[in-house]
Amino acid sequence: MALKLSVIGTGYLGATHAACMASLGFDVIGFDTEASKIELLSKGKVPFYEPGLEELLSEQIKSGRLTFTNNVADLADADVHFICVGTPQIKNGNAADLTYVNSALEAIAKLVKPGGLVVGKSTVPVGTATKLRNRLLELNPKADLAWNPEFLREGFAVEDTLRPNRLVVGVVNDSAEQILKEVYATNLKDKTPWVRADLPTAELVKVAANSFLATKISFINAMAEICEAAGGDVTVLAKAIGYDPRIGSRFLQAGIGFGGGCLPKDIRAFMARAEELGASQAVEFLKEIDAINLRARQRVIELVRKDLSDDLQGKKVAILGAAFKPDSDDVRDSPALDIAAQIQAAGAVVTVHDPKAIANAQKRFPALNFADDVNATLKDAEIVLHLTEWKIYQEIDPVKVKSIVKNPIVIDGRNALDRHLWQSAGWKFRALGRSNNE
Ligand code: UDX
Repeated sequence: MALKLSVIGTGYLGATHAACMASLGFDVIGFDTEASKIELLSKGKVPFYEPGLEELLSEQIKSGRLTFTNNVADLADADVHFICVGTPQIKNGNAADLTYVNSALEAIAKLVKPGGLVVGKSTVPVGTATKLRNRLLELNPKADLAWNPEFLREGFAVEDTLRPNRLVVGVVNDSAEQILKEVYATNLKDKTPWVRADLPTAELVKVAANSFLATKISFINAMAEICEAAGGDVTVLAKAIGYDPRIGSRFLQAGIGFGGGCLPKDIRAFMARAEELGASQAVEFLKEIDAINLRARQRVIELVRKDLSDDLQGKKVAILGAAFKPDSDDVRDSPALDIAAQIQAAGAVVTVHDPKAIANAQKRFPALNFADDVNATLKDAEIVLHLTEWKIYQEIDPVKVKSIVKNPIVIDGRNALDRHLWQSAGWKFRALGRSNNE
């Protein structure tokens, strides 16, 4: 008989995991304390934008394999319980807030069947899994707990969940690994690399991977600063070093840096945890990674001041992009939106466009102006800032839009526009890490 799965927490990670596991043929029940979320998901609707997820979710609900509940007692029938709740940054510090993870365990512990497994997927500070396992065994000695971090990227969540590039399972007992092998049988058949680890290593894999990615991005943004100072071009530099397979070309896109719900908070939580462990020196460099990342935002604002004037009072600024990256409506720690808010706070009149993220951006910064049409955003602009590399912005015809703006000046904060095209159309083209002398 196929295993029955429960998924606790139906945010980004949980909703995707639940739908994908159902599509593999498991009976899945998703649980969340937020009644409105459950109501929406039960109708096959996803409360955020993720390509392909809504279709998959409603298909699985129709098949009868996927259901949602806000009554935790309904999970008692499941054999494996995935904890997928959020671990946001605490309000007054860098550490991760474990309130939701802890309460998920408390809620589920006594419901787990003898021989049943709780599997943590949330990103947690190293040491959490062992603590949770001890607590689980205290409440329910016949249950076990494993850690199975996820590496899904927003915009590719379904693909990354169904076809991950590796599966990492932190376990104490062979029986826990066996259960997880049953859950991921399809991936194992497809030869997905399988890494068995102990609990702390499994937890660390996730933060180490995100720290490495953040380091790669900040490295290239540091090179961008040097290129600017020396009159070089970071896009050419990135291409050239990326041909070395030891370096690789991915995550070397220089620009306004990383944001989102994971990278920034994960490197900060890692530093906080390392300090608790007495190993802060080992990840001291992450402070610099964070600083380089935040500096990229300031460098865009400096370019704006250089081209307009130090005093931004009343200047009309058009901003293309609010999401932290394309194909997402997520504005958590979005570099684009942060820049928009800072420029507005300096007195400019800022209009922001984004194909998907306006509703979320509006909630965060209600005082910004938003437009749902690119031309309306650009109208009479004294400068245009390209801050999230949505495909539609690369398709803008610079000749056509030149007549709409007041000054044809564009700053490409993502190094994704065709500089030659914009310059030949008569635009002053600025970019991070590239010579800005025209
Ligand atoms: C990340 C990890 O990639 C994923 O494995 C983990 O599970 C969750 O965190 P995500 O937050 O969806 O995923 O975004 P990602 O694609 O990693 O991009 C993060 C940020 O870095 C974005 O703001 C993006 O614009 C920026 N970025 C990425 C760059 O500035 N340059 C690059 O070369 C790549």
